[in-house]
Amino acid sequence: MADMQGDRHWDENHSRSFLDYGRYFVPERERQIDIIADLIPAAPGGLMVELCCGEGLLSRALLERFPDCRVLALDGSERMREQAQKTCSDHGSRLTTAAFDLADRDWRSFSEPPQAIVSSLAIHHLDGRQKQMLFADVAAALRPGGVFVVADIVRPRSAAGLAIAARQWDEAVRSRSLAIDGDLAAFAEFNRLGWNYFRNPDGEPIDKPSSLAEQLAWLAEAGFTAVDCAWLFAGHAIFSGRKPDVAGQA
Ligand SMILES: C[S@@+](CC[C@H](N)C(=O)[O-])C[C@H]1O[C@@H](n2cnc3c(N)ncnc32)[C@H](O)[C@@H]1O
Repeated sequence: MADMQGDRHWDENHSRSFLDYGRYFVPERERQIDIIADLIPAAPGGLMVELCCGEGLLSRALLERFPDCRVLALDGSERMREQAQKTCSDHGSRLTTAAFDLADRDWRSFSEPPQAIVSSLAIHHLDGRQKQMLFADVAAALRPGGVFVVADIVRPRSAAGLAIAARQWDEAVRSRSLAIDGDLAAFAEFNRLGWNYFRNPDGEPIDKPSSLAEQLAWLAEAGFTAVDCAWLFAGHAIFSGRKPDVAGQA
């Protein structure tokens, strides 16, 4: 997840690169989207919020899976928000996009308490303290029984873990490059851009993944129950927690 411009923040150049290469660079992307949706309990109607929606693939999956829901898709990039609108154009007014800065706190209350808040490959741009604050704010914003589902890169705690994640991510991108285009051009670009965070984990100030164990603990501290990791591969994890219902049950 390189910072191609040497900048500390995501910018429109990053968006362009991710739109070009996300389909190659995200391991098991389609499976990840399915698992995120699987973790959301079926509930009629209601609002779902996607943080850092990118081109809108997950928002579209939620709109398809939950035909009564509305999705608020937030992203800091105008290019991404425009693309998300196109991706979800079949679902008309059930999708709303809006600009936000993930690190700010001013967007963290909603017109109605969401039944789900989800995010894919973005929360690692926050440092540990900011993640803890986000988890607490999401817990406060959700409706009772609502879920928070995060898909993101997570930082292994050992050199061996880093090496395994690095190797698996290379293998995944190599396979996707061959499967999608029949050649290794996208894998070569992955290497050229230095996208494999686990090969140089302290090289990019824009990327600040925390360990999975820390993040599960922060979710529990924020008051979530049923905190667990549903999937982990190539340093990418999907983990979630549920806000207790009014009676305080998990
Ligand atoms: C790696 S892309 C992931 C996009 C999408 N969620 C996916 O999984 O395909 C990261 C996304 O986060 C957005 N982003 C990064 N930092 C942000 C910030 N501080 N505030 C708002 N959006 C941000 C980018 O514009 C981009 O769409």
